[in-house]
Amino acid sequence: MNFQWYPGHMTKAKRQMQEDIKLIDLVIELVDARIPLSSRNPDIDELGKNKARLILLNKSDLSDERKNETWASYFKEKGFYVVKLDARRRNSMKEIQNVILEACKEKIERDRRRGIKNRPVRAMVVGIPNVGKSTFINTFAGKACAKTGNKPGVTKGKQWIRLNKDVELLDTPGILWPKFDDQMVGLRLALIGSIKDEILNIDELSLELISYLKENYAGTLAARYEVEETVERPVELLEAIAQKRGCVQRGNEIDYSKAAALVVDDFRSGRLGRITLELPEAE
Ligand code: G4P
Repeated sequence: MNFQWYPGHMTKAKRQMQEDIKLIDLVIELVDARIPLSSRNPDIDELGKNKARLILLNKSDLSDERKNETWASYFKEKGFYVVKLDARRRNSMKEIQNVILEACKEKIERDRRRGIKNRPVRAMVVGIPNVGKSTFINTFAGKACAKTGNKPGVTKGKQWIRLNKDVELLDTPGILWPKFDDQMVGLRLALIGSIKDEILNIDELSLELISYLKENYAGTLAARYEVEETVERPVELLEAIAQKRGCVQRGNEIDYSKAAALVVDDFRSGRLGRITLELPEAE
């Protein structure tokens, strides 16, 4: 699911989120572990102030394991709880459950002091499109969870997914828009597949990727496509890849766009290995 945002969408989404955030104790923010900053919307820090905050480094199966650690420390230092995640799998869900309770321990303690018992912690999931919000909700909630709608005191129409006696999740995620104004952010979002390919120049995108890989993940392209990485310009590497993979048009001309799409697709699907596209100190 690719996206395009218009000011009308943004205003509506923001207003909705302002309302929803009033109902919850904890914001569960999904970011893409390959671009943890570029896949955030800085407004969430303002919207979610005074709430407990959990960042899920999602799609961490596709990102660099060492850099996942770097990013986890980065966010923890800023006061977030952090869990690395592959939202398609259930194996981190117990950990997340425990972290949610830890993040909300002050609220739970406050309730206890006031004699309020068995009031579950309420959370909502937020993030930019395609980051894995629905996948996470489905995996986390599983099949066994009942939906609890329209309780007294809850805005009409809100559906809560009761995970267990301790935690409830708002069933619709909050959608945030990414930062468009920064060109590098746009490039990274495009590389992970968050921007419509039709409006992108795939050739340019692949050249940026090739030069990033050459510099930061030397040997990756050589290993996958059996090409020499010693050539100076990224376009020469693309040409070599095209030749190796038989990307030629009629008249034996190199089909750059076909090779470009191949490289970008191999990156997105993880066939080039686990790669992270940005690091905290670069920001
Ligand atoms: P959204 O609600 O935030 O818009 O995202 P959604 O859950 O629809 O997920 C977007 C895509 O990302 C889905 O793939 C989903 O399978 C994939 N995805 C979600 N979490 C993870 C993860 O942790 N790791 C990996 N590798 N993928 C994840 P899709 O485009 O709908 O289908 P497909 O690309 O799998 O065919």
